[in-house]
Amino acid sequence: MSQQTVYLVTGANRGIGLQIVTQLAANPSNTVYGTARNLAGAADLKALASKHSNFKPLEADVVKPETLKKAAAVVANESGHIDVLLANAGVGDSVSQVKDLSKDALSYHWEVNTWGSVSTYQAFRTLLLTSKQKKLVFVSTLLGSVNDYLPIPTTAYGASKASLNYLVRAIASESKEEGLIVLSIHPGLVATDMSAAIDEKVNFAKLGISTITPKESAEGIIAQVEKLTETDQFLDYTGAVHQW
Ligand SMILES: NC(=O)c1ccc[n+]([C@@H]2O[C@H](COP(=O)([O-])OP(=O)(O)OC[C@H]3O[C@@H](n4cnc5c(N)ncnc54)[C@H](OP(=O)(O)O)[C@@H]3O)[C@@H](O)[C@H]2O)c1
Repeated sequence: MSQQTVYLVTGANRGIGLQIVTQLAANPSNTVYGTARNLAGAADLKALASKHSNFKPLEADVVKPETLKKAAAVVANESGHIDVLLANAGVGDSVSQVKDLSKDALSYHWEVNTWGSVSTYQAFRTLLLTSKQKKLVFVSTLLGSVNDYLPIPTTAYGASKASLNYLVRAIASESKEEGLIVLSIHPGLVATDMSAAIDEKVNFAKLGISTITPKESAEGIIAQVEKLTETDQFLDYTGAVHQW
């Protein structure tokens, strides 16, 4: 079995996920799996795989557990374990105050961001427990903090990530004896398709909030993950501690 550090990153075909797998794959001591919902259309992941033999793209939709199981079977067969699982896949495309919030928007964000992340954990849990490092990282957001509530009306998105943060703490608690090191991480406000869609409606510049690049965010996330030793934390990409 592989002696490499084995990473699996969901939602790796664009945005922050693509930068994370690109940077990880540049280190030959890593074995990196990156998932896409539609592998046939994931040109950047195919290009990365042809450049780096330590990178392998896999197909998985986080709301379709059978696709996650299939991906887990490939990793089990090839690498036998996952040292670091990065549940990064997510959606955030609605802006509305609670008075106008639709059940559809709330359900959709919850299904992908909350249930999709839990499903990802469930599918790869055995492979994580088989590893030495046992690092389980959920890409969350400050917009999901209840204690540090930010008055930006991304309510469906924020509620789904607050719900995720609760479950992250529950996973940290119930897996402590098993040695999982569980982290919820805020990647910064990052210039991706997701933030661009929200920016159109809230105008971040007007709120005095500037974006960082996916490259900067991924560098920070990888640095935090590499030095991670403590479970049950909510950090950002710079290592700053945040309120749940
Ligand atoms: N950008 C920011 O400022 C920011 C701030 C805080 C937190 N975050 C979090 O960071 C993570 C990455 O966001 P991003 O900005 O990189 O967004 P993005 O550019 O919109 O990329 C989202 C990724 O998630 C994937 N995805 C969506 N639904 C999926 C599903 N059902 N199954 C599997 N993959 C799915 C997308 O795949 P497709 O290409 O197939 O749609 C894409 O690869 C998310 O969890 C987001 O909430 C982002």
